[in-house]
Amino acid sequence: MIDSTQPPGLERVPRASLVQLRSFEAVVRLGGVGRAARALHLAQPTVSTQIKELAIALELVLLEPQGRKLVPTAIGERLALAVRSMGAVWQGFEEDVAALQGLRRGRLRIAAVTTTEYFLPDLLGPFARQYPGIDIELAVENRDAVVARLERGDDELAAMMLPPTHLPLARWPFLDNPLVIIAPVGHALTKRRRLKLSELTGEPLLVREAGSGTRAAAEQAFAAQSINWPPRMALGSNEAIKHAVRAGLGLAVLSRHTLSHNPADDGLAVLPVTGFPLRRQWHLVWRQDRALSLPARTLLDDLRARLQVKARPRA
Ligand code: PGA
Repeated sequence: MIDSTQPPGLERVPRASLVQLRSFEAVVRLGGVGRAARALHLAQPTVSTQIKELAIALELVLLEPQGRKLVPTAIGERLALAVRSMGAVWQGFEEDVAALQGLRRGRLRIAAVTTTEYFLPDLLGPFARQYPGIDIELAVENRDAVVARLERGDDELAAMMLPPTHLPLARWPFLDNPLVIIAPVGHALTKRRRLKLSELTGEPLLVREAGSGTRAAAEQAFAAQSINWPPRMALGSNEAIKHAVRAGLGLAVLSRHTLSHNPADDGLAVLPVTGFPLRRQWHLVWRQDRALSLPARTLLDDLRARLQVKARPRA
């Protein structure tokens, strides 16, 4: 039984063979049986017979003589169009096959700033499981190192907060990146309901190493508010900063993504500072002057589809 909710199959064209339809379309397009036969590498009488049998099978007059030529009737033109639509659909199918084969084996190089290590592997998980033949190389470095990789064109995609402006980059902001100020649990400032940034500057400030985007974003925010809060200590990773803050060595600005769902589980508290969290975003960027590979495009499509429904991180 034919399911009327589905697009039709080929049940309706049982009397015409694909070979006949192909020959007929070629005759119409190329303007003659002889030319069609040459293009299809068939003998001319073979094509003539196919066309005659097709007209009999469909009970239609498809071609009519005009002087010494055979030209399509109106219904013959309509049939040629229908055959071309079938050809276009088939071509789409072949493209799908090629695309699937292109995703069977391959490599995808991604650069990511260190702070994204808290969530990026989770985001890549579904893509990695769906395309096990694509080797993903994820280089995790600080912002300056990622910018250098982009300049050299080492990677197809890069995940970062502050894309550089001196390169021809396409960018897609894919996730919020709230930057918060943290203190150890129990610190006197954690008892306050609201704090001004200027009230913190007497406390030691711990920052990431030079070249970190988190550090650059914090410095920009301080400068925008004319706050002079020189760092007491620079540490080379988010985890080192969290340990140092917990140990009471100072306060720090970090991405909310680096903290547990409940920061107190790590012995840390987010201070209620006016103007914070700084509302920044994570971007995926790629060079516009280079074509993206199929795996890279597929990953972008996959993330776009999934992140539309993904909840934002808490500030
Ligand atoms: P980073 O990351 O502090 O690890 O460099 C932030 C960024 O540059 O986007």
